[in-house]
Amino acid sequence: MVSPDSIPSQLQRSFLAGALYTDADLLPLEQQHIFRQTWLYVGQAEDLMRSSTVRAIEVAGTSVLITRDQDSTLRAFHNLCPHRAALFCREPGAYALKHLVCPYHAWTYSLAGNLVGVPQEERFSEDFCRSDYGLTPVRLEQWQDFVFLCFSQTAPSLMEYLGRIPTMLNRHVTAQTRLLLNLHYSVQCNWKVYHDNTLCDYHVAIAHRNTLDPVQGPVDRYEYEFDEFVNLLYTPTTKEWRSQNPILAGLDERGREGFFTFGIFPNVHLLGLPNGLVVWLRIDPVTVNHCRLNLEIYGVPELSPPIDELSRDFAALTQEDIVITEGVQKGYASGMYRPGPANQLEDRIVHQQRLIWKYLQTGLQGDRLTVLNEMKALK
Ligand code: FES
Ligand SMILES: [Fe+2]
Repeated sequence: MVSPDSIPSQLQRSFLAGALYTDADLLPLEQQHIFRQTWLYVGQAEDLMRSSTVRAIEVAGTSVLITRDQDSTLRAFHNLCPHRAALFCREPGAYALKHLVCPYHAWTYSLAGNLVGVPQEERFSEDFCRSDYGLTPVRLEQWQDFVFLCFSQTAPSLMEYLGRIPTMLNRHVTAQTRLLLNLHYSVQCNWKVYHDNTLCDYHVAIAHRNTLDPVQGPVDRYEYEFDEFVNLLYTPTTKEWRSQNPILAGLDERGREGFFTFGIFPNVHLLGLPNGLVVWLRIDPVTVNHCRLNLEIYGVPELSPPIDELSRDFAALTQEDIVITEGVQKGYASGMYRPGPANQLEDRIVHQQRLIWKYLQTGLQGDRLTVLNEMKALK
């Protein structure tokens, strides 16, 4: 892990160079050095595993199986047969399976990842032992019913990683909380452009004058808090918002009065509102200039605005951001951008970009580190 001292000082109050958003060679490096080292939000357990026992998903550029056995324990494994690397499930999706059977030579695994069947087993060498060939696990931990995966064995626990989030939002999630809406968008920009934008509190009063700004209220009420991997913007809700929305029972004073907007490294945004709405926005890289958004809105149906209203409001807000971020990507691609100064209302972007830089260069040596430094130096 790189010490904070080695983070270039110009990153403290300025932004990353445009080349870090446009160079196609960077994406595999980001998958390896960022996404495979951190906790990644993948969805709500109930929704992920609905009427299935195995869920195949693409995450961090690879395929993972989430399994649920008879006692409801969730586990995650690489979608990869230990014999000769065949995929168990070829397509992402939900599967109702009692075992995982490899399509190549039919090695058979329990949903706990144990090898339980091997055709022609007597023809392997005498020291062949099934227990040497269990499925390769991926760390899976939950906060509430929300599931995260982590490929790194050295990353901290999920609870540690999430910093103040469990304390501040635990009561926003109740037994009545349901997935209300799941929206997907395809955006022609680098994933970091879109995430920088979700962390940008400078543009809200300008670009979201009629959508987000009336909910978040005036800039002079903004409060910031930072953990290692999490940043928070807290704003008291406006009188107008309070007059139109019920308050979820059981929240503490801050929860009743305010709007929590968390950025979670590397690619997630989490909102908590006093009416019990909990919103996850995940930004998945596709190519260097294309990302996909997965927007999940949870809430208590009786307290939440009607679904069509939620859908319309989030679509309008997202469309405003898509226009801006696709434009920024073109600006970076011009090669003419020299990083500008950071406003205090962009502190959360600076926090995220410092982590990106720190993770990208960790473990890099020689030519690859030189190339990365050259990209960053394009100022
Ligand atoms: S590759 Fe799976 S059984 Fe051979
Ligand atoms: Fe925005």
